[in-house]
Amino acid sequence: MTPLPNELNRLVFATNNGHKLDEVKQILGNHWDILSLAESGVTTDLPENGNTLHANAEEKANAIYRLISLPCFAEDSGLEVDALGGAPGVYTARYAGIGASAQENNEKLLEELKDITDRTARFRAVIALWWQDKLFFFEGVINGRIATRLEGLTGFGYDPLFIPEGFDQPFAALPGTVKSQISHRARAVAEMVNFLNFQTTPL
Ligand code: IMP
Repeated sequence: MTPLPNELNRLVFATNNGHKLDEVKQILGNHWDILSLAESGVTTDLPENGNTLHANAEEKANAIYRLISLPCFAEDSGLEVDALGGAPGVYTARYAGIGASAQENNEKLLEELKDITDRTARFRAVIALWWQDKLFFFEGVINGRIATRLEGLTGFGYDPLFIPEGFDQPFAALPGTVKSQISHRARAVAEMVNFLNFQTTPL
């Protein structure tokens, strides 16, 4: 893919999560110019009051689009554990309580699953994109299972516990290139890029 010669391929990623920003920059490589909020001159907390990943992604994208009126996207993601009826879902970030650390969330998940053998789960990511004054949604899912102990040092959040389908180790113990190809976020970003390539390819 040849980079476009103008600002058509520039997008602001409405996140204050440096890990997500790094991952999306790695996924999109040189083809898309991804600007952080700081690089766009925006410093703000992002609202997250919805009951669904879609509602949260939309709320975050709207908040930034109102400020900058430039193409921008936000992402909201969650972990759905089958034995917990799909929890923590939209409450994944605050599973162990508001302001909980990743360590505390991981420990709570291990505790909730301690006597449970069905450990199937999935990560889901929803992207809300403002493009040419319209809002579009994209979704990505990665199936997997929850490990019985923490393993690995890379990534963030639940990466030391989430073993993607087809692998025997969690994301945090696998090469970063694996995650950037198959994660929920990578898949949602791929959907968005398909859409954008179609929009920006001259006829
Ligand atoms: P939010 O989308 O920023 O609200 O994050 C939802 C929660 O899911 C947070 O606790 C994140 O740490 C976690 N999370 C989102 N994506 C990933 C991932 O790729 N790996 C591990 N944890 C993740």
